[in-house]
Amino acid sequence: MSCSWQSWPEPVVPVQSLAQSGIRSIPERYVKPPTDRPLTKNVDHDEAAEAAQLKIPVIDFQHVFSEDQALREETLGRINSACREWGFFQLVNHGVSHELMKNAREVWREFFYQPLELKKEYANTPTTYEGYGSRLGVEKGAILDWSDYFFLHFLPVPLRDQRKWPATPANCRELISKYSEELVKLGGRLMKAFSVNLGLDEEHLTKAFGGDEDNLDVCMRVNYYPKCPQPDLTLGLSPHSDPGGLTILLPDEDVAGLQVRKEDNWITIQPYPNAFIINIGDQIKVLSNGIYQSVEHRVIVNSGKDRVSLAFFYNPKSDLPIGPSQELITEEHPALFPTMSFNEYRKKIRTQGLYNKKK
Ligand code: OGA
Ligand code: NI
Repeated sequence: MSCSWQSWPEPVVPVQSLAQSGIRSIPERYVKPPTDRPLTKNVDHDEAAEAAQLKIPVIDFQHVFSEDQALREETLGRINSACREWGFFQLVNHGVSHELMKNAREVWREFFYQPLELKKEYANTPTTYEGYGSRLGVEKGAILDWSDYFFLHFLPVPLRDQRKWPATPANCRELISKYSEELVKLGGRLMKAFSVNLGLDEEHLTKAFGGDEDNLDVCMRVNYYPKCPQPDLTLGLSPHSDPGGLTILLPDEDVAGLQVRKEDNWITIQPYPNAFIINIGDQIKVLSNGIYQSVEHRVIVNSGKDRVSLAFFYNPKSDLPIGPSQELITEEHPALFPTMSFNEYRKKIRTQGLYNKKK
């Protein structure tokens, strides 16, 4: 490692301030090479047209707890197929209050709508990334994404530092806590469903993650994608898979942006009302020995509307070794991944750059 992890290599420009300055063309720093731009496909190609019709499954989580065994099994089966084939699904009737979801999203929108001077008090550094930021990675001269974000830790408790969370809007901290508590519970229920679906003991993944809530590593990245005068030239977030366990994403209500890779195509997810978008991260892919996919995704932007999303990362205790589960290693299906802790994995990714990661 040659460069310092303490500070950014060049001044950080919030994308929101660029967007608000009224520019008609975006600075070169945000222009992606032609092959990485949103519309690189030949759209009259049959395959692309067909792919555009594809949708990730929408699953009713309530059915997993139904008295009706057939319904329960069918729903678990749908979750299982989604994890294998897409690594992504939308979840409804997930038990989290719709009002709480809306309040959490809107309080963050208000946070980003505050004056820049105020937000800059939370400016982050590449040491922990906690706080308000506009870039990932410290490579000088890198092409940047069209987004700002706020990153914070919720678990383990010693990493939770509420003083680093926004003090305004006034109810922001309280909402973050309430929302995160609910999502930790939802994450636990999903882990059980995934364990059963993999043919493992119901508690298997929970144990592999550290055994109980106090041991988890849970953090949240709130993304803000300002309007963009040239959305065809850039991306809100470059292609990546999520390095952790699983992600519970609360998208904006009526503006799409998240795209999921399906073979050579990018499928735009149309957010279903009051749904969360769930996706498998690299650690569950490893624990499942590749049965579940941690799929690449990216975000496109648009000129008409800004977009807010809350990405909640449910990750294993950071120093536990994570490798393919013994039960899922056979002669025909040997261990596909090395064993390492989430910390080691994260360090490896941060060093080589999130976006250079091989699938
Ligand atoms: C992320 C992410 C998607 C979105 O933060 O890792 O993939 O729609 N976000 O903002
Ligand atoms: Ni992601």
